[in-house]
Amino acid sequence: TVLVVDFGAQYAQLIARRVREAKVYSEIVPHTMPVAEMLAKNPRAVILSGGPASVYADDAPGVDPALFEADIPAFGICYGFQAMTSALGGQVARTGMSEFGRTPLAVTEPGVLLRTMPDDVAVWMSHNDAVTHAPPGFETLAVSDGTPVAAFEDTSRKLAGVQWHPEVLHTEYGQAVLEHFLFDLAEVRPTWTMVNIVDDAVETIRAQVGDKQVVCGLSGGVDSSVAAALVQRAIGDQLTCVFVDHGLLREGEAEQVEKDFVAATGVDLHVVDAADRFLIALKDVEDPEEKRKIIGREFIRAFDEAAREIVARAGAEGSEVEYLVQGTLYPDVVESGGGEGAANIKSHHNVGGLPEDLQFTLVEPLRWLFKDEVRAVGEQLGIPADIVWRHPFPGPGLAIRIIGAVEKQRLEVLRRADAIARSELHAAGLDREVWQFPVVLLADVHSVGVQGDGRTYGHPVVLRPVSSEDAMTADWSRLPFELLERISTRITNEIPEINRVVLDITSKPPATIEWE
Ligand code: XMP
Repeated sequence: TVLVVDFGAQYAQLIARRVREAKVYSEIVPHTMPVAEMLAKNPRAVILSGGPASVYADDAPGVDPALFEADIPAFGICYGFQAMTSALGGQVARTGMSEFGRTPLAVTEPGVLLRTMPDDVAVWMSHNDAVTHAPPGFETLAVSDGTPVAAFEDTSRKLAGVQWHPEVLHTEYGQAVLEHFLFDLAEVRPTWTMVNIVDDAVETIRAQVGDKQVVCGLSGGVDSSVAAALVQRAIGDQLTCVFVDHGLLREGEAEQVEKDFVAATGVDLHVVDAADRFLIALKDVEDPEEKRKIIGREFIRAFDEAAREIVARAGAEGSEVEYLVQGTLYPDVVESGGGEGAANIKSHHNVGGLPEDLQFTLVEPLRWLFKDEVRAVGEQLGIPADIVWRHPFPGPGLAIRIIGAVEKQRLEVLRRADAIARSELHAAGLDREVWQFPVVLLADVHSVGVQGDGRTYGHPVVLRPVSSEDAMTADWSRLPFELLERISTRITNEIPEINRVVLDITSKPPATIEWE
């Protein structure tokens, strides 16, 4: 394990991901964790992240020097670099020279850390204070205009640090610097491979579950699919999956779950065809929050019924259903401040309302993985690419992409338009450039058109392609005009109810990704 000590930077997760890209397992711990507890994790190296504080502030989070006496290689980044400097007897000063963004850097002495870096590179900086004197025993490796000591290392104690952010994309040779620390200075070995990840997960699941039965809710999304496939790989026929088809999925998605996913993984799938029930519950409802509430409620009901059947069937066979699979990812675990030991949360906190008498303990096979790792595991397990690379899709599905009441015929119209947009995006090879590509039907808006010799009075659809990293902020995707034109032409030619296609060019904020 390489520990990434989080000083409150938005970059800690990024650092952990970069370490894992180098095939080294990394875990994020808060800077408030006592050194003894960090050492108990037996880390091969420690990385101190950046953070918003100034080492001068009264309440500045420091580094316990005991960490450096433990004979564990350490690497400081930005604030972590400054905190390391202070802890080891160097000097950090207010130079009055801030550096933000792209900054030219001069390598004065490559050492081990910068040995493959050219003399002049551009790196990404974000700091006010600067290191003016390296601590005793350290060699200075680089300078910038605002930073007399921009990088240093002490090869005998295996300590090093940089003022810039090697983890961000814009920093040249960032990954190389990180890997020189990991492999050349700290001498860790790259063992975090897909095969090992899957093997570890399988072992952990078996140890947790024993001979008990497990249920799993499949949504058709990446996370629940990969979680289910891992559990299936681990315990095979002790697992039963439930797929509640609420009739609000896109074209082909239910079939992908029912046929392709089952064929690829062999899971025992229990399909609940609840489309009519959802349509009835949603009749005449226009308010988005009302739609969400109804869908959430109906979903729990349908899942509850199916789970009870599975529990009863297992009971009749003399076994017991004790576990529920949940696709929680590592960023959620980090953000909720949890670590290990939080696995006993009961399902109703998460599934949002399973009744008291139907409680399960959670199995969370993805709780140590980042999204890109989940996808890689999915590929490793042979899950079809259409599922592994699927864009995020909201739980309430197409219901919140019909502006107006949800009706069967409206769903069919939207489904066809959405399928055209997705297939053209795919044909253009741009799936992975786009975070999500909602198509929104303005069902309550009419628009005049002329097709053939006649006047038409149809509906507009909105194309809403966005780029994003986490859905918290987003920008509209600059799709090629030829692609937009093809989508527009096909939609209006092939779907008589639609006579206008418009493009949403709003970022988030101010707009959200979905229209409702
Ligand atoms: P917004 O529209 O708020 O969406 O920018 C951010 C992300 O969340 C998804 N989304 C939902 N996901 N239930 C979900 O499971 C919902 O009610 C819901 N509303 C929005 C949206 O698709 C985007 O990825």
